[in-house]
Parts: sequence; C-alpha cells; structure tokens
Amino acid sequence: MKGKSIILAGGSGGLGAAVADDLAARGAIPVIGCKRNRDRADALARTIVEKYGVVAPVVVGDILDQTVRQQLLDAGRRAGLLYGMVPLVGQPARVPIETATELDLIESMRENFIGPVLLARDFAAALAGADGAIVFISTMQAIGVFSGSTAYAAPKAALIHTARILAKQWPIRVNVVAPGVNNAGMAEQSVRSGKYDSFLEKGMIPRFGQPSDVARAITFFLEPGNYVTGQILAVDGGLTTKM
Ligand SMILES: NC(=O)c1ccc[n+]([C@@H]2O[C@H](COP(=O)([O-])OP(=O)(O)OC[C@H]3O[C@@H](n4cnc5c(N)ncnc54)[C@H](OP(=O)(O)O)[C@@H]3O)[C@@H](O)[C@H]2O)c1
Repeated sequence: MKGKSIILAGGSGGLGAAVADDLAARGAIPVIGCKRNRDRADALARTIVEKYGVVAPVVVGDILDQTVRQQLLDAGRRAGLLYGMVPLVGQPARVPIETATELDLIESMRENFIGPVLLARDFAAALAGADGAIVFISTMQAIGVFSGSTAYAAPKAALIHTARILAKQWPIRVNVVAPGVNNAGMAEQSVRSGKYDSFLEKGMIPRFGQPSDVARAITFFLEPGNYVTGQILAVDGGLTTKM
C-alpha cells in the first residue's frame, strides 16, 4: 500500500474516516473527498498527518460534477501512485415508495448510483491500464429484502450488478462491500433512536457494526496482489443470513 493513493469520495463521513485511517496506517495516501463539510474533512486530514505523517489531500465538491471528479483524480496523482478508489458517498433516501415523488427517486439514483459509477469510469480511464482496484459501497438492504427500502436499496443493488459487469469488462479489480447497521455515519441517529434494537433482541446480530469492521473489508479488497474480483462481501454481523 505504501505510496499508493486511494481516492475516498465521502472519505470524511462516518465510515469513510475509518477507511482513511486504516489506509494511512498502512502507508497509503487517502484522498479525502466530501460534498460541502470541509471542516470535518480538514480535521480528519490533520489527525492523519499527526498519527501517521501521511499528508492526505482534501477535495470538496459534488462528485456528480465532472470538475470535482477531475480534482479528485488530480489530487490522487499528485499525492502518490494512483491506485484505488472507494466511493463512500450516498444518501439514505428514507422515503416510502407509496409517497415518493419522481424527484425523490431520481435524487437517490444520482447520489447512490450515478455519482459512484461516473467516478469509477473516470478513475478507470485515468489508470490507463495500470494496476488498480475499486470498491463500491452498497448496503445490506441491497442483499436482504427490507420493507420500505425501495428508494435507497434499488440504486445500491444496481451498484452490485454494475460492479460484476465492470469486473468482467475492465482489467482492474472491482468488488463491493455491503455494510449492515453501523453505529456511525448515516445510520447513527437511527441506531440511537432504537430503530434497530430488535435485531439485537432477537439475536440476529451480536452487536451493531463499527466503522473499523467496514474499513477492514475495504482494505482487504484494496490490497495489491489480491486475487479477488467481482465479489460482494456483506459486513453485517450475519443479519442478512437470518432474514
Ligand atoms: N452508516 C451505515 O451504517 C451504512 C450502512 C450501509 C451502507 N452505508 C453506506 O456507506 C457509505 C458511507 O456512509 P456513511 O454512513 O459514512 O455516510 P455519511 O457519514 O453520511 O458520510 C457521507 C460522506 O459522503 C459525502 N458525500 C455525500 N454525497 C456526496 C456527493 N454527491 N459528492 C461528494 N461527496 C458526497 C459527505 O460529504 P459532506 O460531509 O460534506 O456532506 C460525507 O463525506 C454510503 O454509501 C452509505 O450508503 C452506510
């Protein structure tokens, strides 16, 4: 990993920060992307340089914007040997299909599918045949069937099928991590509210997930020389096996 740059779109978020930390601990250079909360991204970059002496560039902006995707790639090239890309962006799209508007569905598709796929396309082109790896971030909701999840889960399921296509189509490795319920990031508030307590009470999961659980799986898929591609790894404490 040493000296390799890994673009982490959404790298400042609840899960992304753990990925950035794990990669920097191995000598890789995370490029920390975020949409607008620069202070949080800058604070993470400061922590990483203090802990590991790794200077992680920060790029602010929406990855649906081509110039932002280019900035991420340029920052990756300047920081080290461009090698990896993990889009940790997304929005929970908590709107039931019964009341969802066309715009709700389009917005979820843009945030959860189109942005990550366009960035993957630009990243693969920038590699120009060099070795590299992409890890898409899906969700347990794209593997198990959860009532009320259409707006969020459908674009995330599309991401899984896209990863399998691209793993076949491109010379680089493309895999997927599908997190379960984590006590961090976009699920943190729901966990605090007790929304998922029944999973614990029924013994479906031993505990809520932690960002480090997800980071470990992502780092595995990014390891140079890894012989795995086109695969989906659910990091959900076994939840989707018990539904
Ligand atoms: N947390 C969980 O338990 C959980 C479970 C299953 C799947 N996931 C998936 O894991 C990934 C990370 O989730 P998280 O919980 O870490 O989310 P989070 O804490 O809400 O962080 C999201 C990150 O993505 C950035 N972002 C969002 N939309 C963007 C865009 N269009 N362009 C550029 N950056 C954008 C945010 O930037 P700003 O801070 O500037 O807005 C932030 O850095 C997501 O794909 C999510 O669907 C999470």
